Amino acid sequence: MKILVTGGAGYIGSVVSEYLLEEGHEVAVVDNLSTGHAEAVDPRIRFHKIDLLDRAAVVKVFDSGVDAVCHFAAFSQVGESVADPLKYWHNNVSGALSLLSGMKYAGVRHFLFSSTAAVYGEPESTPITEESRLAPVNAYGNTKLSIERLLADCRKGWGLNSLSLRYFNAAGASDIHGEDHRPETHLIPLVLDAAYGRRGELAVFGNDYPTSDGTCVRDYIHVKDLATAHLLGIDKLVEGYSGVLNLGNGRGFSVLEVISAASRVTGKEVPFRIGARRDGDPAVLVASSEKAEDILGWKREYPGIEEIIEDADSWRKRFPGGYSS
Ligand SMILES: NC(=O)c1ccc[n+]([C@@H]2O[C@H](COP(=O)([O-])OP(=O)(O)OC[C@H]3O[C@@H](n4cnc5c(N)ncnc54)[C@H](O)[C@@H]3O)[C@@H](O)[C@H]2O)c1
Repeated sequence: MKILVTGGAGYIGSVVSEYLLEEGHEVAVVDNLSTGHAEAVDPRIRFHKIDLLDRAAVVKVFDSGVDAVCHFAAFSQVGESVADPLKYWHNNVSGALSLLSGMKYAGVRHFLFSSTAAVYGEPESTPITEESRLAPVNAYGNTKLSIERLLADCRKGWGLNSLSLRYFNAAGASDIHGEDHRPETHLIPLVLDAAYGRRGELAVFGNDYPTSDGTCVRDYIHVKDLATAHLLGIDKLVEGYSGVLNLGNGRGFSVLEVISAASRVTGKEVPFRIGARRDGDPAVLVASSEKAEDILGWKREYPGIEEIIEDADSWRKRFPGGYSS
């Protein structure tokens, strides 16, 4: 199939593009490189360096023929979204509107959407299922939930098939593509940077939560397992399925568990200090992915925290300063 990947120069989009190519799909990428890296786009991919907000340019991309769209392009830093909500609503929601307009115009009916655990906000109970209350607590989560609702409207209006995949914390790397956010806000790369002295000691926000060691528990899903779910998701869309699925690890790890796993993987101490809690950080965020397992036949191959960290570490050793472009 001909798959258009938006945000394919970014972390998850580059790994999914790699898997799509391996599966024999023809891949085109749209990315404005606002947070992504040209080096992350495989030379076999047709790369359109355009902004999704440029609706005329987006419509033109569909001229070359597209069977399905994987939409990763978005801004995704929670803290920044709280400080600058207009930036997030503008980029994420207007970007999706522009892309969907292009799809409607070109008659493309299959849409895989990168949604997020942030649509649940602070959950009433865990594990979180797709039926849990939807109550984002930041602008980032609000933009993603709004797009999910837009997709449901497009299904009613013009027959769009969409699959919204609510990722929990993507982590790890493939052999070729890894995580290089600037600034980085995700725990595993930050822990690795602290272990190798690339940054100062790591701040752990609170150790008085009702968890086994008092630190927050989160769900880390290997980016390679996410990629597999996308391949299965495309098949499901083509069968006519539309819906919403959580993609998580099945178990959570506390911040201190991640730190000690990183010490074992690297053979280095991870310097850290315990700080105050952050506002809006729930004690535990862990997904139930049973629905994705049932509907897609998805099985995680890399659920161990050490293998996730090992892959992130190996990638970083191959790209010590991250991508060069
Ligand atoms: N990383 C995670 O743990 C995680 C968790 C849940 C959901 N998500 C979602 O998954 C998607 C990918 O996340 P990521 O970590 O790979 O992010 P990323 O920042 O690495 O990649 C996003 C890509 O989109 C591009 N982009 C952004 N706005 C654009 C625009 N207007 N036009 C064209 N390109 C644009 C960026 O240049 C970048 O290459 C995002 O939608 C994010 O919200 C990520």
